[in-house]
Amino acid sequence: MTSSENEWGSNLAFILAMIGSAVGLGNIWRYPYVIYSNGGGAFLIPYLIAILVMAIPFLILEYGVGYNYKSSFTKAVIKLNPKLEFYGWILPVVVFILTIYYSTIIGWDGIYFVLSFVKGWGSDPNTFLSNTVLQSSDSINGIFNFLPVVAISMFVGWFFIWIVSHKKLDEGLGRISRIFVPILFITMAIIVIFSLTLPGASIGLAELFAPDLSLLWHFDIWMAAFGQIFFSLSLGLGAGFTYASYTKKDIDLITSGLYVIIANCAFENFAAVGVFSILGYMSLQSGTPVADLVSGGTTLIFVVYPQIFNVLGVLAFILGPLFFFTVYVAGITSMLSSFEVLSISLQNKFDLSRKKATTILFIIGSLASMIYATSSGEYILAIADSFVNNIVVVFSVIIECILFAWVFKAEKLVKFLNDRSHSLKLGKWWLILVKYIIPILLLVIWIGGLNEILSEANFEFLAILAILFAILFILSFIFAVIKPKSENWYKTEERIK
Ligand code: ALA
Repeated sequence: MTSSENEWGSNLAFILAMIGSAVGLGNIWRYPYVIYSNGGGAFLIPYLIAILVMAIPFLILEYGVGYNYKSSFTKAVIKLNPKLEFYGWILPVVVFILTIYYSTIIGWDGIYFVLSFVKGWGSDPNTFLSNTVLQSSDSINGIFNFLPVVAISMFVGWFFIWIVSHKKLDEGLGRISRIFVPILFITMAIIVIFSLTLPGASIGLAELFAPDLSLLWHFDIWMAAFGQIFFSLSLGLGAGFTYASYTKKDIDLITSGLYVIIANCAFENFAAVGVFSILGYMSLQSGTPVADLVSGGTTLIFVVYPQIFNVLGVLAFILGPLFFFTVYVAGITSMLSSFEVLSISLQNKFDLSRKKATTILFIIGSLASMIYATSSGEYILAIADSFVNNIVVVFSVIIECILFAWVFKAEKLVKFLNDRSHSLKLGKWWLILVKYIIPILLLVIWIGGLNEILSEANFEFLAILAILFAILFILSFIFAVIKPKSENWYKTEERIK
C-alpha cells in the first residue's frame, strides 16, 4: 500500500466524500417518518440538542484521532492497546455486515429506477412489491427461493462499488464524490421545489410540522432524536475516522465536520419537506388523511411513492426516475464509505494493495449478499439491521469513545484542532462531553434499543441473531490471530506531537 493510493487530492474531496457518506437511505426513507411520528415540529428540539451534544463533539473526536494515526481503525486500536486487536476488528467486520445488507436496498432501488420509466409496478404497488419483486416470506422458510432479478440488480451495485473503490483514492472515491454529491443535492432540490408547487402540499407540511409539544416529556422522542442523528451521520462507524485519516496536513477538521453536519441535516429536513408535500398532494387526490399515508422505510419508498407516481400523470415519468436515481446515488455514496472501513484494515495488516483488498471484499460481499436475494431477504435484513445498529454498533462506539477520549486522551487534540479551526474552538466543554456525557448517553441509547428488540424477539429471531454474532466473532478472531504481513502493523506513527 502506498500513501498516494490513500490520500485525498484536496480537502474539498474529503468534505464531499464525508457528506456522501452521511447522506444516505437514512435521510430519505427514515427521517421523514421519524420526525412525523415523534412530535413533528417539536422533534426539532431534541434533534438540535442531539446535534450539539453528541454529533458535533463526537465527529470532531473521530476525525481528530483518525487524522492523528493516518491508518485504519484497527491499527489505531492496536497502537492504543495491543491487547484489543480483537475489538479492533469487530467494528470493521460489523460495518461490512451492514454494507452487505445495505446493498440489498440499493438493489431494490435499482429495480424501481428501471420500472419508473414505464410505471412498471402497475396499479397495486403494494402487492407488486411483496408478491412480484420480493416474493416476501416472513420467516426463514423462503431462503431457497432465489430471486434472480434482485440478485442482478444488487450485483450491479456491488460492481459499481468495486469500480470506484479499487482505484487510487482520489481517482475513485474522490472523483465520484465530487460528481455525485453535488448531483444528489441538485436532484433533491428539483424534487422538493416541484413537490412544493403541487396542490395540497401545504396540507402535508402542516401535518409534518404541527408541533406536539406534549411529546417532549416522553423519553422515546429523545431516544429517536439521538438514534436518528447517530444513524444519519454514520457516527462511530469508522467511516469518519477512515476518511479523516486520508486527509492532508493543512486540514481544518472542526470546520469540515460542521459543514458535513449542516449539509446532512439540511438534506434530511429538505427531504422531509418534499416527502410531506407529495403526501399532502396524494391526500387531496385520494381523500385519505395524510396520517394514513405515512409509513417508514421500504413501504414509503417502494409502495407510497409508486402510488403517488400513479396519480401524478405524465409528470411522474420525470419525477419517478429522478427520485429513484437520487435514492440510488445517496445509497451508493454511503455504501462506498462503509465498504472502505474493512478494506483499509486488511490493506494495513496484510500489506495488500487497494486493488487486491477491494477485489477480495467485492467478491466475498457480493456473494454473501445473495442471501438477501431470496424470499427471506427482507425478513433477514430487518434482523441484521437490528443486530448491527441497535446491538453491536452502539456498544462498540461506547468502547471507541472511551478509548479515544480517555486512553488516547482527547486533550491532546485540542490545541492542534483549534490552531487550524476557522470556526468553532474547542474548550473544557468539549472534553466534558466526549469523556462523560456522550458515553453515558450512548449507554442509555444502547439499553433502550436492546430492551425494545428483546421485548419483540421470538425464537427464530434469536437464532438468526446468534448466527450473526457467531459470524462476527469468528471473522474478527481469525483476522486478529493471523500473523501480519506488514512489518508496520505494530508501528503506527502519530501526526499530532
Ligand atoms: N448515514 C447513512 C445513511 O443515512 C448510513 O443511510
